[in-house]
Amino acid sequence: MSKGLFITFEGTEGCGKSTQIKLLAEHLQALGHRVRLLREPGGTPIGEEIRHTLKHSEHNHAMTAEAELLLMNASRAQIVREVIRPALAAGEMILCDRFYDSTTAYQGYGRELDLEKVKSVIDFAVGETKPDLTLFLHVPAEVSAERLRSRQSTLPFVRDRIEEADRKFFERVAHGYGVIAAIEPQRVKFINGAQPMDVVCKTIWEIVQPRVPKVGRW
Ligand code: TMP
Repeated sequence: MSKGLFITFEGTEGCGKSTQIKLLAEHLQALGHRVRLLREPGGTPIGEEIRHTLKHSEHNHAMTAEAELLLMNASRAQIVREVIRPALAAGEMILCDRFYDSTTAYQGYGRELDLEKVKSVIDFAVGETKPDLTLFLHVPAEVSAERLRSRQSTLPFVRDRIEEADRKFFERVAHGYGVIAAIEPQRVKFINGAQPMDVVCKTIWEIVQPRVPKVGRW
């Protein structure tokens, strides 16, 4: 059985990941690929419970940065073994909304935890399972804040502990992503997410297409 492809999407709040993941999934499916959409934290029954604790639980106000790091990676350890490894072994294309670069950016740079310790927790959670390609959608902080505001005004209010962090936190996260993209340019592709949706979609396809194995309908 051929090995699948593992693509992760990264970026700050409101960078347009969800829209672009959907568009890429449709494109790959139309070409005959089996596509699996996942998100982190979450993506398994255990992971979704952890997601609720991290983001929405009414008891999560006092969560420490260390607990946050470990919960993100508990969810990750589960999805890697329950879903990602079997799906890749079966030749599926995995599109995952966030993966370990989010931990480096948010818990490492954002919460300012020791980057070496963060890395060792991630390594323990994922083992050898690493993304083949990471698409980092960058939007300026003002665009991110504006998109977040407009999303919050159109959807029913659901409290999100992580979104409550201050502006400095999100600036550190954005800086962290920039460092990650600079360190691993082969895997992490920097995309200007402030461009029109169809331009971003086309850019993503130009990056993804050469890595996609051919199936019958090309
Ligand atoms: P989202 O699914 O709406 O992007 O929400 C996930 C939130 O969790 C987002 O604020 C980023 C944050 N996050 C981390 O802080 N660390 C992580 O490792 C992951 C996967 C997400």
